[in-house]
Amino acid sequence: MGSPLPSLLTDGERYQKALQVYYDHSTDFQAMQDFINNLFHDIMSGTINGKSHINVLGIGSGPGDLDIELLSALHLKNPDMTVDNEVVEPTPELISKYKELVSQTPGLDYIKWNWNIMTVQEFEKDWKEKGRTKKFDFIHMFEMLYYVEDNEATVNFFRSLLNKDGKLIISVLDGNTGWGKLDKTYGHRFHNPKLTFVVSDKVKQYLDSGGVSYQSYLLPCEVDITKCFIEGNEEGELILEVITEGLNFKKSAPPELKAGIMELLRCPDCSVESNGKITLSANFEVIVVDQLS
Ligand SMILES: C[S@@+](CC[C@H](N)C(=O)[O-])C[C@H]1O[C@@H](n2cnc3c(N)ncnc32)[C@H](O)[C@@H]1O
Repeated sequence: MGSPLPSLLTDGERYQKALQVYYDHSTDFQAMQDFINNLFHDIMSGTINGKSHINVLGIGSGPGDLDIELLSALHLKNPDMTVDNEVVEPTPELISKYKELVSQTPGLDYIKWNWNIMTVQEFEKDWKEKGRTKKFDFIHMFEMLYYVEDNEATVNFFRSLLNKDGKLIISVLDGNTGWGKLDKTYGHRFHNPKLTFVVSDKVKQYLDSGGVSYQSYLLPCEVDITKCFIEGNEEGELILEVITEGLNFKKSAPPELKAGIMELLRCPDCSVESNGKITLSANFEVIVVDQLS
């Protein structure tokens, strides 16, 4: 067994570029838009109704597009409410992108921003060392728990920061989806071995065994991976790097690993091929948890 590939996250500039190409080729953002339009308000109504101010914490917010959509949806339902929004994001290039988006988006003056350029682990350590006591009404971790070793402890820590009626919203891949199957088969080859691959079943398992009540929503998502099979196609290479998290995957992965991954990505268990287009299934689950009691 080879050692894990160099991580895409170590090159912030390339990671930002790759994420953008990935979002352009996936229905991820559309799935989240549908979630926001159809479910988010009901989930948050008990948290925001009648409030003049709320505290929000976004963890692993990336370029911020999703955060702004979430905050705007809350603002639409309660326009008089002000928001203190704390962001935890370790990739400087992504924080810069997020700040640029904020500066270009009109009508966000009801939000006060606090930027933390750090990992969730550093944030938790810093929080405890400083003895901070602030509570949050809404904490979210979209597609972030993959980067945490003991994610049950992380979930519990952030639940302990919720106000009464506060909500923690998590999203992770559904393990039965094509991407999930790829990770189950090859994840040990391309992830930091300390990070056991997290899928929604695992999160629900530890919530169930801890007697934690939650609601979960399966969101359909697919990624157009056609370009990954076109030799020398730069966008295809960047999409593959997001999927495997391997920096320069096509160059850095051992040939047998590369061949195995490309074969699995194309098999009917993982993807659908139709009219020359290859689509990887990448459904994910949104899990909503309440305060730690
Ligand atoms: C797949 S992106 C998700 C971005 C955004 N939440 C979304 O759903 O569009 C994962 C994000 O987690 C961040 N991340 C990686 N390791 C992290 C860590 N240890 N703590 C906090 N965030 C982390 C990455 O920099 C990136 O912004």
